Amino acid sequence: MWGGRFEGGPSAIMREINASIPFDKALWRQDIAASKAHVAMLGAQGIVSAEDAALIADGLERVAAEYEASGVPESWDLEDIHMTTESRLAELIGPAAGRLHTARSRNDQVATDFKLWVREACAAADAALGALQVALVTRAGEHTDSIMPGFTHLQTAQPVTLGHHLMAYYEMAGRDRSRFVDAHRRASECPLGAAALAGTGFPIDRAATASALGFAMPTRNSLDSVSDRDFALDYLMAAAQTALHLSRLAEEFIIWASQPFGFVVLPDSLSTGSSIMPQKKNPDAAELVRGHAGRIVGCLTSLMITMKGLPLAYSKDMQDDKPPVFEAAGLLTLCLAAMTGMVEGATFRTLRMRAAAELGYATATDLADWLVTAANIPFREAHHITGAAVKLAEGRGVALDQLSMADLQAIDPRIDARIFAALSVEASVAARASYGGTAPEQVRARVAEARTALGLE
Ligand code: ARG
Repeated sequence: MWGGRFEGGPSAIMREINASIPFDKALWRQDIAASKAHVAMLGAQGIVSAEDAALIADGLERVAAEYEASGVPESWDLEDIHMTTESRLAELIGPAAGRLHTARSRNDQVATDFKLWVREACAAADAALGALQVALVTRAGEHTDSIMPGFTHLQTAQPVTLGHHLMAYYEMAGRDRSRFVDAHRRASECPLGAAALAGTGFPIDRAATASALGFAMPTRNSLDSVSDRDFALDYLMAAAQTALHLSRLAEEFIIWASQPFGFVVLPDSLSTGSSIMPQKKNPDAAELVRGHAGRIVGCLTSLMITMKGLPLAYSKDMQDDKPPVFEAAGLLTLCLAAMTGMVEGATFRTLRMRAAAELGYATATDLADWLVTAANIPFREAHHITGAAVKLAEGRGVALDQLSMADLQAIDPRIDARIFAALSVEASVAARASYGGTAPEQVRARVAEARTALGLE
């Protein structure tokens, strides 16, 4: 493609280090679409003849059909998807193929193709997160009244409902979706026509190619257009944040599925066995989701470091932009599917959850709150009195509501028999009816809103 200026050809090392075709062949659909938009515009503007434009467009269709049928051929000599396609086009239609590259460069071509790919990836992630939300809200709706221990520091804190716990992940997924939607919207300017870096002297119509490719408008600065990879970083940042959330959900399932907890039985379809211990059922999918978050964050770090300190406009370092994005997208797709399946297929052992909520003095805050409300004691003092009750109960190895009235009154005479009604886990969750709290009525309201938002009602 540039033989005119060279005497010797590239060495084997040069060809190997230069080749991006092994990975950028994934962009072939976007490359064909962008070339078709470009050549249609060249024809409409009279930059190439109508006959050549039609011949090229037809040839591009034939190349696409070949790729579809037998894959993209990989030759290091042709470096990348752009040259591979153009070379095949020339074989198919002859010298007219040489007119396709008028008024463009691989620099604006690759930026356009990659941006198109990333826009699709943003839309796919948004849709997959929507499916996870549907699973979460469905299971939450089944468990608005199922009581489990809520934890801070992984120590029993206060009783919560399972529905409330699942809806916490619904909220995270919603924020993740908004990040992908935002990344998609921000990537709505088309770089095609920026050419190598400075624009072109040909009378191109950038608005026409932008709109033909589904972009809202052309980019406004040609240097920025070919050097910008923010759209890929935006995608990776959203992917990394999503992966962190998924890793937390995965970790909870791993803990809950362990025998001492026994809160959940994971679906067989997303578990594995042990080759030596017949009793084992391992949460491998959840562990891999937890692990893959590290790789996805690594992809983000990789591209950030590639872009750090690069001068305008295009530098070949930027060819390394694609592998981390493709890797992260593949991993994210898998992780989202695995966690959606796990939420859908998990069997929650609500009796064990409820029994665990009874342990660990989870309703101690309710005793303190009762002292504030019923006996008008300042909260700090109530906290102190409750601490004494917990200490006594712990010493005896009993629950708070198993202490006698006499025991409690010895700690503070202002306590009376009404306290026992406040100490049950049901009363505890029902009391937390502040907006966004764990009370079943609150969780039911949030589930109903979420179902409407997801179009399920
Ligand atoms: N294979 C290159 C890439 O993926 C295409 C752009 C080449 N541009 C250039 N000036 N050599 O980034």
